[in-house]
Amino acid sequence: MTTKIRLATDSDIDQIKKVLSEADLRFTQETLNGFCVAEINGEIIGLVRLEEHDDFLFLTSLGVATAHQHKGIASELMNSIISKAKKPIYLYTIIPAFFIRFGFKPVSQPYPQQLNLPPKGIYGCDKCVPGHCLTMVKCPGDTKVS
Ligand SMILES: CC(C)(COP(=O)(O)OP(=O)(O)OC[C@H]1O[C@@H](n2cnc3c(N)ncnc32)[C@H](O)[C@@H]1OP(=O)(O)O)[C@@H](O)C(=O)NCCC(=O)NCCS
Repeated sequence: MTTKIRLATDSDIDQIKKVLSEADLRFTQETLNGFCVAEINGEIIGLVRLEEHDDFLFLTSLGVATAHQHKGIASELMNSIISKAKKPIYLYTIIPAFFIRFGFKPVSQPYPQQLNLPPKGIYGCDKCVPGHCLTMVKCPGDTKVS
């Protein structure tokens, strides 16, 4: 079965909320701007969001429906957005090993003053153990590890 990767449209909202809930992720903004979905036979089974900021992109909401995990769906979504990105992509994560494979690297703190990253609280990360939540970045041209 072929997976189709495409931008989300308004009619995807219910399926997107279902996958987010299954992946234990929050729907943080009442808009689908920046959402990219993976679809099989009309069913949305995975998603990721890339927020557009002035100097960077910010990746959130990477999730795959439980029944479809470990089949490379998240990797397809990652490869799709990375191939189109023209700015550095930042993210917060508790699973850095997954993102290292795509060329992401930890950002050393303190951040550069001009780097205005979104506050962690809006992503529901405020309850995480801070030491487990890493800020990572991938710049255009950074090499993929696998
Ligand atoms: C993380 C997630 C998006 C991966 O989706 P996926 O489609 O199964 O990923 P892929 O099939 O492309 O890649 C799977 C590989 O990623 C890595 N991986 C998956 N989950 C991982 C985790 N929690 N920690 C570290 N590595 C992980 C493993 O190497 C895995 O290989 P395996 O299938 O041989 O075990 C999915 O498990 C998910 O939705 N999790 C809940 C939400 C979440 O944690 N999102 C990330 C928030 S930053």
